[in-house]
Amino acid sequence: MPAQAPRELENTLIGLADRPDAEAAARLTELGAADCAQTLLRELVSRAALFPEPVGKTTVKVSLRLGGELLGCGVTLGGGVAEVVPSAPRTAVASLAQDLVELLRAVYGAPGRYTATLELHVAEPDRPLFDPADPAHAERAAAVTALHQLAAAIGGREQSLDELAVRFGSDKWGGHWYTPHYDRYFAPLRRRPVTVLEIGIGGYDAPDQGGASLRMWKHYFPRGTVYGLDIHEKHGIAEPRLVPLRGDQGDVRYLEGLAEGLGPFDIVIDDGSHLNHHVLTSFRTLFPHVRPGGLYVIEDVQTAYWPGWGGNATDLHDSGTSMGLVKNLLDGLNHQERQPDADAAGPSYTDRNVSGVHVHHNLVVIEKAVNTEQGAPSWVPRDVDPESWYTDAAKSN
Ligand SMILES: C[S@@+](CC[C@H](N)C(=O)[O-])C[C@H]1O[C@@H](n2cnc3c(N)ncnc32)[C@H](O)[C@@H]1O
Repeated sequence: MPAQAPRELENTLIGLADRPDAEAAARLTELGAADCAQTLLRELVSRAALFPEPVGKTTVKVSLRLGGELLGCGVTLGGGVAEVVPSAPRTAVASLAQDLVELLRAVYGAPGRYTATLELHVAEPDRPLFDPADPAHAERAAAVTALHQLAAAIGGREQSLDELAVRFGSDKWGGHWYTPHYDRYFAPLRRRPVTVLEIGIGGYDAPDQGGASLRMWKHYFPRGTVYGLDIHEKHGIAEPRLVPLRGDQGDVRYLEGLAEGLGPFDIVIDDGSHLNHHVLTSFRTLFPHVRPGGLYVIEDVQTAYWPGWGGNATDLHDSGTSMGLVKNLLDGLNHQERQPDADAAGPSYTDRNVSGVHVHHNLVVIEKAVNTEQGAPSWVPRDVDPESWYTDAAKSN
């Protein structure tokens, strides 16, 4: 069977992680156990790097078992390095062994604890390490810290979204205070194999700069694929499960093509130009490509009030602004209750498919689900003096 491209292999492994043991093992063999092990370890190492790292560089020996096969390699951590070494080190203070199927579950599986076959070992020193100046002391401390990083990542220890924002330098916490809101809406999706699109990568025209929030999302959604769209070329920020795309969020045809190729999306976040006409174009084009149960988020809606950004400082209901759009969506939530003569065209796509709109300071979260609940009964008069309605109704009871 021909080897899969790295991104295809990641997706295959994510899908395989919840399959029964025998099926998972057979498929890992078919896909190439060594390639699968490398892919899983790369992901594991990127997660391990989130935990406090050793002061000095150290290599942990890793042995992975699949049926009768034993795959040996290493992981180097510390001193700013976090990488997989394809061959096992001849000697190592710390070592780790695990069944490959269980590691697959630990990395990409549904929530759970996958450590039943995990063996951790730290070699005994050949002499007492009483003297802190003894180099073997520092060597052992580095090895233990690195092993702990890997064990924490295998054990599925998760960091909060706030912590991830700070770790990766996203201004969604500090500067803005969006991550506590995001966590409320995104938490139920956290362990799902979600597809996320964020418009706006950051770093402006430097191809290898930006992507702080994309990295945060990648680690918040350990089984997710995160796409970032920017008007500038950003190939330098690509990494497993994080894919930069180049395009204009104001270009309907480009967005249509992108959504047809990569959608449907579980989450779309607009943190792009913040120009009001771009925000509206992106929403109208991409919202139909959000999966039912998914979310569309618009950040920095303060520009709705700033004329230079296409906002309107005086007409707060201007439907050409992002907040005007949001106010229309609010009325759409109650489309069943509107008078037929005021709504001759009938319910729109968003009337029928927006099920909730949550507005926070500068942040709007739009929930997608069918909004077909029935309206108030037809016999309730729409045009009545409420005082007499309640009095007369009470009399007739
Ligand atoms: C605020 S930054 C994004 C920050 C990023 N979302 C983060 O949180 O790490 C805005 C980005 O939008 C991009 N941008 C501006 N106009 C755009 C357009 N028309 N289409 C797509 N991206 C655009 C800019 O190049 C810039 O990188």
